[in-house]
Amino acid sequence: MTVRVGVIGAGIMGADHANTLHRMVSGAEVSLIADIDPGRAQDVAGKIPGSRATGDALELIDDDAVDAVLIASHDSTHRELALAAVRAGKPVLCEKPLAPTLAECVEVVATELAAAARVPFISLGFMRRFDPGYVEMKQALGRGAIGTPLLTHSISRGVGSAPGATSESSVTGSAIHEFDVLPWLLDSSITEVSWHAPKPTAAAGGFQDPQLILLRTADGALSTVEVFLNARYGYDIRCEVVGESGTVALTEPAKMITHGHRARSVGYAAGWRPRFADAYRIELQAWIDAVGAGTRSPLASALDGLVANAVAEAVIASMHRSGTVVAVEVPTI
Ligand code: NAI
Repeated sequence: MTVRVGVIGAGIMGADHANTLHRMVSGAEVSLIADIDPGRAQDVAGKIPGSRATGDALELIDDDAVDAVLIASHDSTHRELALAAVRAGKPVLCEKPLAPTLAECVEVVATELAAAARVPFISLGFMRRFDPGYVEMKQALGRGAIGTPLLTHSISRGVGSAPGATSESSVTGSAIHEFDVLPWLLDSSITEVSWHAPKPTAAAGGFQDPQLILLRTADGALSTVEVFLNARYGYDIRCEVVGESGTVALTEPAKMITHGHRARSVGYAAGWRPRFADAYRIELQAWIDAVGAGTRSPLASALDGLVANAVAEAVIASMHRSGTVVAVEVPTI
């Protein structure tokens, strides 16, 4: 079965996902693109034969030519659009976050549960779960390659922050990936957090960057997370798990080495799209395979999205309370 996908949001991620679905994912067809800026939707649709453009996301969700919906519009739209897709009975891949606030996440998860579908409608775009490096580390931990995990160290550095970035959006937009992937990696939920910061870089222009977050998981392991959006030198994602008998760590997925100027060097990606291109492609293929087969998607769930938001809210509470330890409270639904 070919799954006809409607993509909402024709910005950076929506255009990238539409292109990947069209060119690299088997069993998928991009049938409709929606953006409040119809010109943008038309630009993306124009590059994908057989697809159409619309300025109305709700119209896309109800369109008969759409079997499944991919939400890649602004964070503030996720709640309304995910709920509309659930009401229309269509599977949806929603980019992170599930919604900007925990209260909205609760509403989305509760609505999905009430729909009582055979398989959940909502999958969430926490693509690191499909990155080959993270997958290999999880497999190594699962077979006990380094014994019991004790510590993890994660680093998330970028070339520059988006206009309007704040200390809080650094947590909800960037660190949130760590709040999903670390519990997934360790198979243990985050129970308490604290937030710390050195003096900020001048390049951030007024908000706290970098930040250092400590996370404790139920298994007793302690994780450090550095988020540094204006590190400037490149997009650099690191993760090391320290166990009782060794460590596992991501390597930079470089495909080329340069010898010159008396140095041996590999480059850094300029942003998340090249760094996680494989992860996005594998994630999209896994989603389409599940939608086509009518089975539960192996992607993160709406509940995983809610839990990550609960961690983000605890981290922001710690930020506003001078770094005191804050317990993570996940609402029961
Ligand atoms: P962007 O700003 O480049 O694109 C967003 C698009 O959504 C814009 O074209 C805008 O006109 C459109 N839009 C806004 N409201 C809309 C509505 N009601 N209906 C239809 N279109 C609407 O943003 P970007 O970077 O593409 O991010 C999109 C989403 O992806 C965000 O939720 C972001 O958090 C998430 N994201 C996920 C990443 C990941 O690694 N999984 C990485 C970067 C972003």
